[in-house]
Amino acid sequence: MKILVIHGPNLQLLGVRERDVYGEVSLEEINATLRGIAAGEGAEIEILQSNHEGEIVDAIGGALGRFDAILINPAAYTHTSVAIRDAILSVKIPTVEVHLSNIYAREEFRHTSLIAPVAVGQVTGFGSQSYSLGLGALIALLKGRAHGEK
Ligand code: DQA
Repeated sequence: MKILVIHGPNLQLLGVRERDVYGEVSLEEINATLRGIAAGEGAEIEILQSNHEGEIVDAIGGALGRFDAILINPAAYTHTSVAIRDAILSVKIPTVEVHLSNIYAREEFRHTSLIAPVAVGQVTGFGSQSYSLGLGALIALLKGRAHGEK
């Protein structure tokens, strides 16, 4: 069970950036929590943070045959990136989209996710816990599929 975790633009600044919106937990702390969950579940994870759309597209394309699932916070690219959406569609790797903030309770331009329609599901608004919930959901999905569930 191999899962690729992708953090999009500006998320390297978590804990510093707009703390009233995104909280005080750093990306390193989130990654440590995810590594702990994965280890406890017997899953392997690889983590990428990138501020570059093309690098994220490359990582998704390169995941084909190497990863069973993708956990992604596309950050601002959520609302703009046809390229990331197409990459997920192309590889057909089950993907869960996560956001720290509730994107539907914020500015209108954040209410549209180009990624959600090609994801298995979306977790939004639970702060850093969105990541843990999303990873838990992906692991449950993969374990279910291993037992013949949809
Ligand atoms: C975000 C929400 C996006 O709208 C924003 O551009 C981000 C972070 C979140 O995790 O809440 O950078 O994806």
